[in-house]
Amino acid sequence: MSNRTYKPRRGRVTPRQAAALDIRDGLLIELGRTTFSLTDEWPGLPVILEIGFGTGAATAVMAGDQPQFGLLAVDVHTPGIGDLLHRIRTIGLTNVRIMEADALEVLRTMIPERSLAGIRTYFPDPWPKARHHKRRLVTAEHASLIGSRTASGGTWDLATDWAPYADQMIDVLSKHPMWEGGAVDRPSDRPVTRYEQTALDQGREVTDLRYFRAIR
Ligand SMILES: C[S@@+](CC[C@H](N)C(=O)[O-])C[C@H]1O[C@@H](n2cnc3c(N)ncnc32)[C@H](O)[C@@H]1O
Repeated sequence: MSNRTYKPRRGRVTPRQAAALDIRDGLLIELGRTTFSLTDEWPGLPVILEIGFGTGAATAVMAGDQPQFGLLAVDVHTPGIGDLLHRIRTIGLTNVRIMEADALEVLRTMIPERSLAGIRTYFPDPWPKARHHKRRLVTAEHASLIGSRTASGGTWDLATDWAPYADQMIDVLSKHPMWEGGAVDRPSDRPVTRYEQTALDQGREVTDLRYFRAIR
């Protein structure tokens, strides 16, 4: 699959991450072929899907600050899955579930139509080379898939440190019939991750965007 939105990275799994990955307590959900009931996981809670959480540093803080949401956090990178599992067990969070999978596959096969209250995509891989732009997560096709699974009025929050990618996001989403919104001030509840701090240290500007699922 040459159009994967992520770089295959091996990454050493530390003993702490391995121990976290070994525990079977239902926090790690397997990729399946059928939709799973988000409302069974968290009766009554609106659900947010985070695509690409890295080490989950921001995910865990935001989930702790926002117990009114269930958070389904999806990434493909095994060490980071171990990190987030460790974080949520240490804090004792009950409103996070994790999947080790391609989030686009999860959206296609497991998320019911119009069921999500929100999507978060913080610092998706920038794919700076022109020949790799087709691998970016924010394309019209993916915006349609994400839009089809998001409830009317639901939000899509994005951040990027790559100015040309911010331009692409705005270009794609401003033309897309399912989405309305644009650039916003940095949300005060989004913590700075190590990834973002490196970008800031290297002098790159961060753009935050917020879109709403159109009511149609
Ligand atoms: C540049 S990192 C940013 C991580 C984190 N959001 C942060 O701010 O530190 C992008 C992450 O997205 C993940 N990713 C990329 N495409 C993905 C996909 N289709 N499904 C799930 N995760 C994906 C990568 O594995 C990586 O962990």
